[in-house]
Amino acid sequence: MIKKVTVNNLQNLKNSGEKFSVLTAYDFSTAKYIDEAGIDVILIGDSLAMVALGYETTHAVGVEEMKIFTKAVAKGVKRAFVVTDMPFLSYHTDIPSAVKNCGEMIKLGANGVKIEGFSDYIVEVVKRLTASGIPVMAHLGFTPQFLNTLGGYKIQGKTQEAADKILSEAKQLEKAGAFSLVLEMVPQESAKYITENLSIPTISCGAGKYCDAQVLVSDDVFGKYSEFTPKFARKYGDMKALIFDCAKKFNEDVKNGNFPSENEIF
Ligand code: KIV
Repeated sequence: MIKKVTVNNLQNLKNSGEKFSVLTAYDFSTAKYIDEAGIDVILIGDSLAMVALGYETTHAVGVEEMKIFTKAVAKGVKRAFVVTDMPFLSYHTDIPSAVKNCGEMIKLGANGVKIEGFSDYIVEVVKRLTASGIPVMAHLGFTPQFLNTLGGYKIQGKTQEAADKILSEAKQLEKAGAFSLVLEMVPQESAKYITENLSIPTISCGAGKYCDAQVLVSDDVFGKYSEFTPKFARKYGDMKALIFDCAKKFNEDVKNGNFPSENEIF
């Protein structure tokens, strides 16, 4: 029997100084393969707005779309801890709708949710979700849903004062019950300082090597999404070329009569 990763396992990894891995997935078979490869946390990131749905930013994706992707990914995963990224405005208006929208993802097979940003209201949301049995992954630093208020894709936490602000917010989110924290586009030294002063695991998304875990968008790792690749992403394959090549060969085979063969007919 495969043992499912839990929030306790992730906390124990931080406590013992062992790193864990986080990758995004949006469909059943990708989730299945990356789970089998040993990835510890699978995130149905709202990055799917761009990489799977072709929108320009994450703002366009909604709860109903995230539900479809959550259902597909959860079905493919046996071991990893599955987290759904809650989309823009799905937890911002009021606590009851935040609990309801996040709870829907748990009903569909997610093990936790991720929410972005910090305010007194967000702290209250984290408290109420945790009290409802919904584990929360917090997300500070660059938070894509706040792109318009942050004024662009800007590195956050560059000065000691700014790092202290992130740390103070992170501590309040931790106290409210968050089980982990994504730090996005934060300088490595600031992320180290925050990681060392926080009890819960930090997950780097372009925040350097001292965080307790690393997350990347799977389409960047596979070399599939080619519209834009962030500096911090590492490409381990060339799925774009593979897809192009397979489609090109199939197209040729159909047109020159090489497909189907005798073995491919009834
Ligand atoms: O949407 C996403 O994929 C994310 C991760 C990259 C942290 O938020």
